[in-house]
Amino acid sequence: MASQTPPPLLLLLLLGWGGDSLQERPNFVLMMVDDLGIGDLGCYGNTSLRTPNIDRLAQEGVKLTQHIAAANLCTPSRAAFLTGRYPIRSGMSGSSRPGVFLFTAASGGLPPREVTFAKIAKQRGYETALIGKWHLGLNCGSSQDHCHHPHAHGFSFFFGVPLTNLRDCQPGHGTVFQIHKYLPYGTMGAVLLSAAALHLSGAWRLRRGLLLGLPVLVLVLAGLTAGFVWTVPYLNCVLFRDRTIVEQPFRSENLTQRMTREAVSFMERNSARPFLLFFSFLQVHTAMFASAAFKGSSRHGVYGDAVHEVDWSVGQILQTLGRLGLREKTLVYLSSDQGAHLEEEVHGGSNGVYKAGKSTNWEGGIRVPGILSWTGTIPAGGEISEPVSNMDLFPTVVGLSGASVPQDRVIDGHDLMDLLQRRRERSQHQFLFHYCNSYLNAVRWHPPNSKLTPDPPPDPHGGGLMVPFVPAGTSVWKAFFFTPNFYPEGKAACFHTHVCFCTPDYVTYHHPPLLYDLSRDPSESRPLTADTEPAFWAVLAAMEEAADSHRRSVQPVQSQFSADKLMWKPWLQPCCSTFRQLCRCQQDRP
Ligand SMILES: *[C@@H]1O[C@H](CO)[C@@H](O)[C@H](O)[C@H]1NC(C)=O
Ligand SMILES: *[C@@H]1O[C@H](CO)[C@@H](O)[C@H](O)[C@H]1NC(C)=O
Repeated sequence: MASQTPPPLLLLLLLGWGGDSLQERPNFVLMMVDDLGIGDLGCYGNTSLRTPNIDRLAQEGVKLTQHIAAANLCTPSRAAFLTGRYPIRSGMSGSSRPGVFLFTAASGGLPPREVTFAKIAKQRGYETALIGKWHLGLNCGSSQDHCHHPHAHGFSFFFGVPLTNLRDCQPGHGTVFQIHKYLPYGTMGAVLLSAAALHLSGAWRLRRGLLLGLPVLVLVLAGLTAGFVWTVPYLNCVLFRDRTIVEQPFRSENLTQRMTREAVSFMERNSARPFLLFFSFLQVHTAMFASAAFKGSSRHGVYGDAVHEVDWSVGQILQTLGRLGLREKTLVYLSSDQGAHLEEEVHGGSNGVYKAGKSTNWEGGIRVPGILSWTGTIPAGGEISEPVSNMDLFPTVVGLSGASVPQDRVIDGHDLMDLLQRRRERSQHQFLFHYCNSYLNAVRWHPPNSKLTPDPPPDPHGGGLMVPFVPAGTSVWKAFFFTPNFYPEGKAACFHTHVCFCTPDYVTYHHPPLLYDLSRDPSESRPLTADTEPAFWAVLAAMEEAADSHRRSVQPVQSQFSADKLMWKPWLQPCCSTFRQLCRCQQDRP
């Protein structure tokens, strides 16, 4: 039997169930800011950046204070957000490095068999749009097949960039293709490119005639390096409207304003029907930019200006919902894909009291802002400190759209509505697993009441207490199997590279695992020991067991981050004009 639902049945489902309840189902406006730190927002305690619109959204809804990104890097975190599954389950986590896509013309991406909430909402009659950053692949075999394009994953409308904002996208901001500060610019790109080109042309055969071959090889490599360094902005920094390239390279100035206009017009066009809008900001990722109206508006350089511009944009979107009378019919969500990037953006980006940032599983890397608001349905002004995940948006959106989650695969997220509407006090996530690429790095455990209470129950005078007692309910334990080595030592970041790596030569293993209780030590500054924590061994044993059973639940799948899939492939390169014009176009008017 085929495991997929045949299309005619889908159609019947749509026709049969589509009409009646369409009115009651909410719209979704899901906003994700790139690399925004939890400490950058007024409602999370920032006192010098002004984010009045986001703060108001929090007041009108619920603020999550333990909202955890399923991964500490963009690509895997976004894959998990859209599918409700740990990235390891979809092959969206790298095994060595890098852990994100670096080329628009790579062949890896969110596999077509994965089901996003957009795909389900669309089947349920929703009008769907992605505006902004995608970073989940584009093509598989040719420059036009768009097998990983947002269209293939349920977004009917797309205005944005298939990759991400990169340093290379703005003149004078350097490059991400620098693997070491002492190695020359573009090294990594040149190596990948040369490998691809040589592989393609069969030039390795030149080895036979070494005398002739060697100089040719050197020339080819030199030419490719120069060419690559010069053209990479045009190649990677592409702005699409649906399947058409409208700008290459994109101009970041005014881009947030253009995206905001697209979002407003999408909501206006669809105000009479349920819609799902995923608004995915390019800010506040390097290269930093802000439009003229926001330049110099903050005390924190362009970073702060960019946060101000994001807040303005959120204000425009909320204003539009208000004007269209849709606030009571719309679930609004705002988050970040992971913590602020301390290695790259040394002049701004605050993860509050939390340690380290993007690319680590210290709290600063994965504890992100989480605001949910739905006037009249979610009580306003609340704060929820239970551990929840960005994977939870998947079952929440799917449920509210009137569908049920796919039964043929593991879904790791849990529907948030009971928690948000206070029908439930505790998160359904007893355990959360924190991956560094494909390596299980740490486990978080929020035990239900008295999980390890001794049996028989402890006698009130302390006699007969054989099993250590875990403080019921309040603790949030976190155990690290390994931690990143910071360079220079003593700092909370890996400043000699763009991110911290997860491979054995860049981390320290811990036996026993490093244990913290986040409820007492949110900054992860004092690891517990058997001397300082009576339940030390019992807690670790429970967490190791959970980790083992989680590992067993992971089915091996093809990695989307193999060298072959990450590599730049000339034949997959989107290019708006012929290569003679070097893929440059400025068609879209601002
Ligand atoms: C951005 O918008 C401003 C004001 O509308 C305009 O003057 C400027 O030329 C625009 N910049 C670009 C790069 O289009
Ligand atoms: C507010 O954000 C800025 C920019 O990220 C940061 O430098 C500053 O430390 C933050 N302030 C607080 C109180 O967190």
